[in-house]
Amino acid sequence: MERSDYNGELRLKDVGRNVTLLGWVSNKRNLGGLVFIDLRDNTGIVQLIAKDPSILPDVRNEYVVEAKGVVEKKDVPNKNLATGEIEIALTSLRVINKAETTPFIIADKSDALEETRLNYRYLDLRRPVLFHNLKTRAAIVKVWHEYFDANRFVEVETPILNLSSPEGARDYLVPSRVHPGSFYALPQSPQLWKQLLMVGGVERYYQVAKCFRDEDLRADRQPEFTQLDEEVSFMDQDQILALNEGFLKKLFKEVAGVDIQTPLRRLKYWDAMDTYGSDKPDTRYGLKLHNIEKEMEGVPFNGFEGAPYKRALVIPGQAAETSRKVLDDLQMEARKFGLKGVLSLKFLSGKLEGSFTKFLDEAHQAALIEKLGLKEDDLILFAASPSRRYADFGMGALRSLYGKKLGLIPPHSFDLLWVVDFPMFDPVEGEPGRYTAEHHPFTRPRDEDLAKLDTKPEEVLAYAYDIIINGYEAGGGTLRIYDHDTQWKIFKLLGLSDEDVAKKFGWFIDAFRYGAPPHGGIAFGLDRLAMILCETENIRDVEAFPKNLQAVDPTSKAPTPVTEDQLEILGIQIKKD
Ligand code: AMO
Repeated sequence: MERSDYNGELRLKDVGRNVTLLGWVSNKRNLGGLVFIDLRDNTGIVQLIAKDPSILPDVRNEYVVEAKGVVEKKDVPNKNLATGEIEIALTSLRVINKAETTPFIIADKSDALEETRLNYRYLDLRRPVLFHNLKTRAAIVKVWHEYFDANRFVEVETPILNLSSPEGARDYLVPSRVHPGSFYALPQSPQLWKQLLMVGGVERYYQVAKCFRDEDLRADRQPEFTQLDEEVSFMDQDQILALNEGFLKKLFKEVAGVDIQTPLRRLKYWDAMDTYGSDKPDTRYGLKLHNIEKEMEGVPFNGFEGAPYKRALVIPGQAAETSRKVLDDLQMEARKFGLKGVLSLKFLSGKLEGSFTKFLDEAHQAALIEKLGLKEDDLILFAASPSRRYADFGMGALRSLYGKKLGLIPPHSFDLLWVVDFPMFDPVEGEPGRYTAEHHPFTRPRDEDLAKLDTKPEEVLAYAYDIIINGYEAGGGTLRIYDHDTQWKIFKLLGLSDEDVAKKFGWFIDAFRYGAPPHGGIAFGLDRLAMILCETENIRDVEAFPKNLQAVDPTSKAPTPVTEDQLEILGIQIKKD
């Protein structure tokens, strides 16, 4: 079967040519003795016209056909189609395969429910917008390969069947038939392997790596996703950031046609948190948080007791129209982020209004008005928390809500920055002295903070960096610990016993006894980069066969129970309740 052209590529210059085209019937219309057919392939749609309908076989939507004809100029161009200046006068049309009526109409603007589209993903994929997304995704990987290949990186595959480790998200487990009762874990990332590659002298590694995490799903999270993963030896943080900025510059130029200015801005973790209420701030709009700790000193409000961190957000032009119900909804939103509640005031007719004013004497009111630079009709939202993180995150959540609601985000814009100087540890709320790793336990504390590991671990900052694009964490990385004793110490600070460390990580940190080079790396989330470059907020739009929010593959319906025989071989019994 041979086509002469792709449908979406025909133009005026082709007028007069005889063409043979292949594709799917996207639409058929009968108009006054003429039949018009839209023929689709993965490059787009071209209009076929049968001036003598008797040459047409029975042909319906989504039939696969071969069309032969002559390219003609259209009298009235169709501005909605790239091929709209021409049409094909049919000489023959052959049906290659029939199609039943599809469960939804296949067109870019589909009003079918996403669930229906995912159940028939192979039909959904015929929509040009989805194919465009897949092509964009492939283009990202191509640029990445080109760039890092030119920088002497070597692609190395790492194992998929791994040791289960207690850190991070929940593992997907795979039972071993040979060792009943034992399990492999699917990789959450190739982190430990890429570090061992550095000990192995590979020096510059990269890999398109499938990763698996059994975590709660969100619009930008899939249980199975892809990282563009890297690791290098003998580079410091500035060198790694500069190297990756080179990639991002090439990526945005070649895939989006956009020039980004490098070096990229760097924002320190606590500055990002205190100013934008997020460690992945969307800085395309203002609405910055204000620290009102000083202004609220001495305010006799019970809720401020034991809650020293106080943040305020000023929403312009919203005071008069904000109802009790809206404020109640905001409470709910803030509670999701660990705040007990959100207080509000309105600045109307030049003064503060709201029940909270009863706690504010004149001096406090004046201080607040001045600090916040209040203007008529400003709505003031504020909160206090025992935790700096909760105060920031809670108000940050409201900031993003209003950023969207007020349409403050400029469309078709890309905003890239690094967030750096992350804390090494995240204190476990309500359990003094207990910590989790803010990035992962292999992250190297900053040299100047090493002494604080024994005294004030919560103040230790790390060589860690995230690349933030339009408010998404598009990638993250760190310099790594490369000496045995520091790595051991970090595990201990994270609450692992000597026995646990030896059992779970002994095999890994032993490698550091044999001349491990200083090393570090980063992993970009390919799915997130694709979302950003395809300008969609739904990660499922950039994966061919994504899981739904219940972690089910809607096409095949995995996961499903397996047979008794299969379980028997694996020595597994399913608990029935
Ligand atoms: P991290 O856990 O930050 O770092 O992951 C790196 C990047 O992967 C993407 N990502 C995801 N994308 C879609 N769905 C998910 N469930 C998901 N989880 C993460 C994000 C994130 O920035 N080994 C380290 C990297 C390193 O230190 O080199 C790691 O995995 O874009």
